[in-house]
Amino acid sequence: MDDGSPDRTAPPDVAALARRLPKVELHCHLEGSARPETIAELARNNGVVLPVEDPRELFEFHDLNSFIAVYEIICRSLRTAEDFRRLTYEALDDGAAAGVRYREMFFSPGFVIGMGVPIEVVWEGIVAGLREAETDLDIRCRMILDIDKPSGPAPAEALVRFAGTQDRDVLIGVGGDSTERDIDHRAFAEAFALAGRLGLRRTVHAGEDGPAENVAIALDVLGCERIDHGVRVLEDPELTARVAAAQVPLTVCPISNVVIANLCADVASHPFGALRAAGILATVNSDDPGMQGTTIADDYAQVAAGFGYDLTTMETIALDGIGASWAPADEKDALRKRFLAEFDELRSEAGLALRHEPT
Ligand code: ADE
Ligand code: ZN
Repeated sequence: MDDGSPDRTAPPDVAALARRLPKVELHCHLEGSARPETIAELARNNGVVLPVEDPRELFEFHDLNSFIAVYEIICRSLRTAEDFRRLTYEALDDGAAAGVRYREMFFSPGFVIGMGVPIEVVWEGIVAGLREAETDLDIRCRMILDIDKPSGPAPAEALVRFAGTQDRDVLIGVGGDSTERDIDHRAFAEAFALAGRLGLRRTVHAGEDGPAENVAIALDVLGCERIDHGVRVLEDPELTARVAAAQVPLTVCPISNVVIANLCADVASHPFGALRAAGILATVNSDDPGMQGTTIADDYAQVAAGFGYDLTTMETIALDGIGASWAPADEKDALRKRFLAEFDELRSEAGLALRHEPT
């Protein structure tokens, strides 16, 4: 008889439960989170003609470079502080709906600056969106300024200087995104050294469509504390052992690596399982949820299903996101307590043994 209570004899549907876990997201791009309908509306409002009516028609990628070309088209629609406020608010609304309680989100001002939008306008809108989201939504977010690597080191240093003038509790660090092809990451040594002197945290996209060597350069030359993607570290066993021993977090984006960088056919054949098995602190993130038509909840579900992980492992992955974040220690403690309580609420609802005794 189905009286609505959980069936304690059926194996738990870990993928479905993983979707509902509380999460930290450390690798998510503001512009890549844009809802396609918002981009279409902003383009109309700003008198910008997109090459298609519905931006979704653009979202077919065969590699990272073709994705970046579409990213640039999407950015053309963004002009005003109000555009960035709306984008930020909606990105956090969608993140909160996917279970994200804490996020460190990239923004990539290089494209719009190139179209004549001052960085101050971009930042004013983002801060307004963050404040509004924090009032209305159950999510906390800090921002990371992403440098567009193909634009070279000179604009990078100007952006780092700008970041250095902002409240560190809101703009917490710098990163570097876009392609790795034909890019020498060593060229950004001075920009990243400056970021370090200014007290900004450092991360960079490396080992996504570039070799493991770029992960080593990120650590040794750029002083990065985290690596975005980094999956190709596995091509170098010594570096893999070093990254594992030092517990350098990798912000891995499994679905993105399938649909954007074309690294593997599906999440089940993604190196995520091998990274975790090597002892690396590999976290799960979405990357560009709006442009992919996914959320981080999909990444959690596909990782659980693809690697046959149990619920405890998925909870550990969620907790690892807290450890890998740049939140202050007291915030991390509060997040851990909250996550543990929420894990048990979910377990109790599903009729599973509790992971932690209530305190
Ligand atoms: N910018 C947005 N998403 C990116 C990705 N997956 N790799 C490099 N740059 C990006
Ligand atoms: Zn990314």
